[in-house]
Amino acid sequence: MLENLGEFKRDFYCGDLTEANIGEEVRLVGWADSVRDHGGVIFINLRDREGIVQIVIDPSKSPKEAYEKAKKVRSEYVLAVRGRVNKRPEGTENPKLKTGNIEVEVDQLKILNTCDILPFPIEDGIQVSEEVRLKYRFLDIRRPSMFQNLLIRHEVYQATREFLVGNGFMEVETPMLTKSTPEGARDFLVPSRLEKGKFYALPQSPQLFKQILMVAGIDRYFQIVKCFRDEDLRKDRQPEFTQIDFEMSFVDEEDVMAITEGLVQHIFKKVLGIDIKLPIKRITYQEAMEKYGTDKPDLRFGLELKDITDIAKEVDFKVFRTVAEEGGLVKGINIKGGAKLSRKEIDELTEFAQKLGAKGMAWIKINEDGSLNSPIVKFFTDEQINKLIERMEGEKGDLLVFIADKPEITYKVLGHLRNHIAQKMGLIPEGKWEFVWVVDFPLLEWDEEENRLVALHHPFTSPKEEDIQKLDEAIENKDIALQFKSRAYDLVLNGEEIAGGSIRIHRPDIQKKIFQLIGITDEEAEERFGFLINALKYGAPPHGGLAFGLDRLVALMRGTESIREVIAFPKTQKGICPLTEAPDFVDKSQLEELGIEVEIPENEG
Ligand code: AMO
Ligand code: AMP
Repeated sequence: MLENLGEFKRDFYCGDLTEANIGEEVRLVGWADSVRDHGGVIFINLRDREGIVQIVIDPSKSPKEAYEKAKKVRSEYVLAVRGRVNKRPEGTENPKLKTGNIEVEVDQLKILNTCDILPFPIEDGIQVSEEVRLKYRFLDIRRPSMFQNLLIRHEVYQATREFLVGNGFMEVETPMLTKSTPEGARDFLVPSRLEKGKFYALPQSPQLFKQILMVAGIDRYFQIVKCFRDEDLRKDRQPEFTQIDFEMSFVDEEDVMAITEGLVQHIFKKVLGIDIKLPIKRITYQEAMEKYGTDKPDLRFGLELKDITDIAKEVDFKVFRTVAEEGGLVKGINIKGGAKLSRKEIDELTEFAQKLGAKGMAWIKINEDGSLNSPIVKFFTDEQINKLIERMEGEKGDLLVFIADKPEITYKVLGHLRNHIAQKMGLIPEGKWEFVWVVDFPLLEWDEEENRLVALHHPFTSPKEEDIQKLDEAIENKDIALQFKSRAYDLVLNGEEIAGGSIRIHRPDIQKKIFQLIGITDEEAEERFGFLINALKYGAPPHGGLAFGLDRLVALMRGTESIREVIAFPKTQKGICPLTEAPDFVDKSQLEELGIEVEIPENEG
């Protein structure tokens, strides 16, 4: 039954036919999207990547051979046809199809291949588990929305190359088999066969290599590059993901940010036809934390955090007072119009807060008649309540919610609660693109577990000029070090961190001091990053750069729930590829060659 393509090459994509083709003889190839038999006349929607066109096999018009074959066609059979483009008879047009005013009357039909029973229909909006979609990704990508996701991604690559090449950037590839790079995640390791017992690490980013390329005089480097990080996966995190990575010499923050803004503007215009107004606004890390509880604030809506720690110090409500007295933070959000939320809905918000680590969530409902409902007002004097409501800018109909805890918990909980409330109350406008730069990050933070200072970005990020003189002092006194600000900048879009970068340390003496500050000994530094420190000694120019998370950018542009939707072959949340079933066990002989013994968990292998 199956035939070869032969001379049945296509003249047009199915979706590209228009009324201008009426009367023409055309050859088409594609998949049978649907097959309908209407009283002997067979209608097939023939589909390729550009769309669908209806082909008609009418036993009274088409040759018998074509008709006999058409009767055998089932969903997703691969067909080649020759026929004439006709205007559809009046009343049979299909306004849902781009080609809905025409159809192709078939005079020759070939079945090039058949198709097994489908695990899910090839259409958008299907209800099927992601596991199954990923196992049959070749079918999943036949669905129009998935094709669009990959097409937009492709267009983002092209727009990126166009802009960066146009601005003098040069594309250079950096190695995938390399040494560990310090982006803060676990490494994926690759055993070496030739040097038994040794491992390559897959790069967490090209950070060290791009800096070395600046020392090498490349001046402006870029790469669209895979990065590998073995971390807990989420909807916006994959073990391998793609960066638009670039680095520039003889620049400061303003230069890198200007290129980044230009790139974003170009991509949005070119790919979505959307004008992004420049310059992008900036806020400091401190302001972001205080107002939004996070360093990636979503500025599409208000719901700003308000500090009431000073008021909390004076009240009888023990939870508030103790936290305030012990250096914690008491902050709240005014949910405008939130008084209409039911007790059950408020309990749901409390549970949400508790899951994030809060001990509870205090609230005050200001009813329309001005009376208050609240489990905590009994601990307040009238004067204190008034002061609180005034601070919160509370009005009739509002719901005020509060969290009292250690600063990091208060921020974390209110930061997430703010997004959750906005979603729940429908406060997030459609089609809004709120970019914001977050700047003036702390250089270092205290790591409780490791009991040492660690770099907030990576250890090659330059401190601010004014802090450089205080480096020696800071080595003796960590409180001084914790005040240092870095020359890093993150770009946030609609509450997601889409890019981050910094001006780097280009002087070996300063780099050495930073390592000292974060407790990396000379020997450790030499062993892990000796090649970079060595390069810095040979005339390293001042330099800086940035990297976009390309998957996140495209996911936002497409409005998809997860970055997995814009990656052709992603891993599941468990890091598994259902298509190939990677990761998998390997042959004993392969392991022997590598000099590796593995312990296989029981019941497996
Ligand atoms: P950073 O670690 O901030 O910086 O990474 C840059 C951007 O990459 C994206 N990203 C991820 N996307 C998907 N899955 C992941 N697991 C993942 N991790 C990060 C984020 C992030 O903003 N070398 C520096 C850049 C520089 O300083 O120039 C770096 O890698 O969108
Ligand atoms: P309780 O006195 O424990 O019944 O708490 C009274 C109210 O305060 C309840 O609504 C709790 O959810 C809330 N609450 C308890 N702990 C905290 C906290 N750390 N921050 C904010 N509210 C809290």
